[in-house]
Amino acid sequence: MIDYQKINSNNMEIPFMDLKRQYLNIKDEVDKAIQETIDACAFVSGKMVKRFEDNFARYCGVKHAIGVSNGTSALYTALKALDVGPGDGVITVSFTFIATVEAISMTGARPIFVDIDEKSYNISPVKLIEYIENNCEWQESNKTLVDKKFRVRIRAIMPVHLYGQMVDMDPIVELAKKYNLKVIEDAAQAHGATYKGRKAGSIGHLAAFSFYPSKNLGAYGQAGAVLTNDDKLAKKMRMFIDHGQRERYDHAIEGWNFRMDGFQAAILDVKLKHLDGWNSLRNRNALLYKKYLSNLENIRLPGTHSNNYHVYHLFIIHTNMRDELKDYLKDAGIGTSIYYAVPVHMQPAYSYLGYKKGDLPVSELCASGVLSLPIFPELSLEEIEYVCEKLRSWRK
Ligand SMILES: Cc1ncc(COP(=O)(O)O)c(C=O)c1O
Repeated sequence: MIDYQKINSNNMEIPFMDLKRQYLNIKDEVDKAIQETIDACAFVSGKMVKRFEDNFARYCGVKHAIGVSNGTSALYTALKALDVGPGDGVITVSFTFIATVEAISMTGARPIFVDIDEKSYNISPVKLIEYIENNCEWQESNKTLVDKKFRVRIRAIMPVHLYGQMVDMDPIVELAKKYNLKVIEDAAQAHGATYKGRKAGSIGHLAAFSFYPSKNLGAYGQAGAVLTNDDKLAKKMRMFIDHGQRERYDHAIEGWNFRMDGFQAAILDVKLKHLDGWNSLRNRNALLYKKYLSNLENIRLPGTHSNNYHVYHLFIIHTNMRDELKDYLKDAGIGTSIYYAVPVHMQPAYSYLGYKKGDLPVSELCASGVLSLPIFPELSLEEIEYVCEKLRSWRK
């Protein structure tokens, strides 16, 4: 039995995340998978990648999963598969990891931001409808939605299932149908999450996952995947991520090198079998936090919509005194983190888009108050109780 708790005078030391604990629990399986990859010399693409792709596609309930180098390249590949580029616009959120937006702007298209819902931290379908009604024009002749202000054709909506909870997808899919748009799910934080019983990654035309080590399903390096039910798009993406090759040295389209690493695929295939169990433990931890922290005056707990199975990639609390609370928890030996302190529209890299403070008030409010508590599956009950006890005695 591993003693997870390092007692430090009166305090416990609780890391924000501890990937070593997880590894120690599955060490034999992981070590074996690494050795098998070496024995097979399946270092890039190859049989480990194929096996993981098949298993991950089945897990998510889609026809094709294509392993790629990371989540950012997965998003970019999805956009390129739709030929999104200069003159196009893609609607997404500003309250996300910057990769969502980078993938759009690197195609030459314009990222267009819609504000979020304060309770779920996800894109607000109401504001999305408002945005389209107030700023866009439907051109029946060519079945195109044009953004009048930015003078771009809107091609896609990219909902981000932030923190492990899926976006309210029905209105998004309905709008996409109405306006001839594609839906690309950014599912980088939502492995195994469901909406009305449907898995993240299975609702949009395309979906992108990241397997960054800290994710619910994390590699031991960088990896990602793009998902689709569309055979043609899948074929195109397989070529795109492999230098546009149709056959060896026959480059049918312009492509890139976004192929998946064999070791990462082998490790992910081992970890996929544990994902549901880990997600339940994250839910257990979240329930305990909710039980022990309800009715705290200065702290708002995360909301979960009844349609959703939340997989708590992150457990987010919101407070007006975020920096003070972070320091207080640090002094008590508790690791926390902030996702995301500055929304993308306020980042210097995207100042050229012309947004200013106040344009996305809910995103800005959330960025100023969110704080992530430790939620990883291997946390002990004592550790959660300790975090809650410290939170309950804050400002007392
Ligand atoms: C919402 C979101 N989108 C995209 C990415 C990009 O994934 P990666 O870091 O694997 O490129 C991440 C990773 O943190 C993410 O959280």
